[in-house]
Amino acid sequence: MLAFVQNSKDERPQTQSIANPEPLAGEVLIQISAASINHRDVYISQGLYAKIAYPVVFGSDGAGMNGQREVIINPGLYWGDNPHFSSPMFQILGMPRQGTLAESICIPSEYVYDKPLHLSSEEAAALPLAGVTAYRALFSRGRLQAGERILITGIGGGVALFLMQFALAAGAEVWVTSGSEDKISRAMALGAKGGVNYRDENWAKSPDLNAGFDLIVDSAGGEGFGHLLKLARPGGRIVTFGGTRGMVPNFSPQIVFWKQLDILGSTMGTPEEFGAMLHFVNAHRIHPIIDSIYSLADAAAALTRMESGEQFGKICITI
Ligand SMILES: NC(=O)c1ccc[n+]([C@@H]2O[C@H](COP(=O)([O-])OP(=O)(O)OC[C@H]3O[C@@H](n4cnc5c(N)ncnc54)[C@H](OP(=O)(O)O)[C@@H]3O)[C@@H](O)[C@H]2O)c1
Repeated sequence: MLAFVQNSKDERPQTQSIANPEPLAGEVLIQISAASINHRDVYISQGLYAKIAYPVVFGSDGAGMNGQREVIINPGLYWGDNPHFSSPMFQILGMPRQGTLAESICIPSEYVYDKPLHLSSEEAAALPLAGVTAYRALFSRGRLQAGERILITGIGGGVALFLMQFALAAGAEVWVTSGSEDKISRAMALGAKGGVNYRDENWAKSPDLNAGFDLIVDSAGGEGFGHLLKLARPGGRIVTFGGTRGMVPNFSPQIVFWKQLDILGSTMGTPEEFGAMLHFVNAHRIHPIIDSIYSLADAAAALTRMESGEQFGKICITI
């Protein structure tokens, strides 16, 4: 079968032929119809991810057919018993295990779910990793309530747009940041109240943000994170699920303890949260925002698109 593979650190990933997978006991075979990429795939292709085991068959997100059943895959494997954190066995699909950028995949049957009927294959493939990450960050960790004011940073990102769609569906007032005015306008067209450009030196002092936020969800970290402490309301929550901009040089413990802030880390989600996320998407008829769709032969261009940071939403691959 064809798959998108990286054979060593010194090679670029490429679409090539590999052996067909054979299901082990308890596994099912899925013919993949669509996949999507996440920032994790970019980090792996750049050698910037922990414990990379070559060859890598990329991709955490996939939708396809298990026999006559239309399915999507939960990419969070072996979470373990404690809903508060994942076990040492926890794995994300797509390294070390074969990923979804391939014509077929074998996966333990408990990670296979019915595809939401209102979604196309590409929309379904956009959902799993980013959707469950947004769901846990927003509801389980962030405890979002209807009517609250929430700030989502870097709205062009795949997870960020699910955060916005889910928060709007839950009745929150959504504000965003982005490095692009166009992305802020597009977010407002989808229901955000407003947004500021984090490339402006004084973005955090914008009068639009003065009223503060009950909940802030961030995946950038870096210097911007220090400003988020000031933008949180007393008693507010800040959830972090990524560190795209690295360490936080201006972290003020004084602001955290005086305003009694909760700072919460979040990573993907439990199988129960994955199921609840699908239920939420079905109930609210949410359609993932797709930035672009590439063929498997052109998967390298999909990674380049994500590296450029120009995307607004998920980058999908038709298999
Ligand atoms: N812990 C987890 O379970 C988990 C799950 C998924 C992702 N992540 C992490 O979360 C991050 C985003 O992942 P993704 O797949 O959504 O990636 P993505 O689609 O490539 O999005 C990255 C986004 O980061 C934003 N950004 C860049 N610089 C920023 C800054 N200085 N301030 C605020 N935002 C900034 C950009 O927003 P604009 O385009 O609007 O400027 C960009 O769209 C990555 O670091 C990833 O590793 C973690």
